[in-house]
Amino acid sequence: MPTLAAAEASNAAWAPSYVPVAIIAGGTSGVGQGIAEALARQTKGRAHIILIGRNAGAAAKIIASFPKPVDSDGDQDWTHEFVACDANSMASVRRVCAELRSRLKRVNFLVMTAAGPRGNSITYSGETDEGLDDHLSMRYFSRYLYSKELMPLLLSAREQGQHAHLMTVLGAGHDMPIPSSDLGLVEARRTSIKFLQGVVISIAAVKGVLRGVAYNDGLVAWFAAHHPTIAVTHISPGHVRTSGSSMAAGWLLAPLAWLFNFICSFIMISQDESAQYMLHALLDADRGLFIRDNHGDVVSAHVFSPDYTARFVDDSPTARKAGLLNGVPMKGYGGSDATVAALINYTERVLAEFK
Ligand SMILES: NC(=O)c1ccc[n+]([C@@H]2O[C@H](COP(=O)([O-])OP(=O)(O)OC[C@H]3O[C@@H](n4cnc5c(N)ncnc54)[C@H](OP(=O)(O)O)[C@@H]3O)[C@@H](O)[C@H]2O)c1
Repeated sequence: MPTLAAAEASNAAWAPSYVPVAIIAGGTSGVGQGIAEALARQTKGRAHIILIGRNAGAAAKIIASFPKPVDSDGDQDWTHEFVACDANSMASVRRVCAELRSRLKRVNFLVMTAAGPRGNSITYSGETDEGLDDHLSMRYFSRYLYSKELMPLLLSAREQGQHAHLMTVLGAGHDMPIPSSDLGLVEARRTSIKFLQGVVISIAAVKGVLRGVAYNDGLVAWFAAHHPTIAVTHISPGHVRTSGSSMAAGWLLAPLAWLFNFICSFIMISQDESAQYMLHALLDADRGLFIRDNHGDVVSAHVFSPDYTARFVDDSPTARKAGLLNGVPMKGYGGSDATVAALINYTERVLAEFK
């Protein structure tokens, strides 16, 4: 396990020969903000950093705090900017990705951290305006869309011999299985007891929390196997002191949630400390799939050959075995080739509605 000092030292040794382009979806607060700030500090501001979120005021403050390099030749090669996007709206995510694709030539780091307060609730489950499950929209669907739509820019960075890393920060390493039915939690929400919403534990909400984690395993497995030249990571941040870190419960369970949050407050680390581990993980990978824990340590990893052809569709017993990715055992990974294929198939059908 790298100590904080070891992570900081390895980050400090990073001196890219190019101006890195980093997109942080969720960079306006919490873990994403910490990562953006660590990147800005490490590059002394000579980077193109794009914070995506809704809070323009918070983004302006963060960007104002970034070091600003002086361009002696008057030719500025760095930019720090905010791009507004409601990650609960797939139409909005799609629009933002198209806009970014139209003006960027490459992206070195795509980091996705936005989860939102609803994503942490174990008592409330509902639907977004687009009819997606509240827990899954930002934690999974938006991240899938960002990954797919911005993939050409990551591949372009790789073709130029630069870092190309897709990282989703959620809850890696828990062997969370991907089920084969009710993928959108429609049935779970339908059978939830509506009049107790927000008061007692909602099965649909708990399922939503767990499914987000499992589906992110599926997301990274799919993109890593299909794009073996880049690095793809699902990482867990552990307990980090952020505005979104407390467990939300209704009034009946409020004392329990308070106790849980109180206990967690003793083991929580700051977002700056977490950012050092996240940045270490971001830089400590050339290509391949990585499942990492909160210190950036590898729980499991696999590097496919650069010309690898992904296999998710065969119906062999191996394809149905959880924890195996295209025949490769992955510790902490809950998908099987069959469940990942079904998940992606389902995801594509759902997202096709939001053109
Ligand atoms: N913190 C922890 O202890 C902890 C523990 C386990 C797992 N995690 C996971 O680690 C990740 C990062 O954690 P965190 O605590 O930093 O998360 P967070 O507080 O939920 O994330 C905050 C970011 O999410 C953005 N966001 C929220 N709603 C949005 C929306 N509708 N559209 C666009 N952006 C939105 C916020 O931007 P705006 O406000 O600008 O919209 C902000 O940039 C999350 O996936 C979380 O589930 C965290």
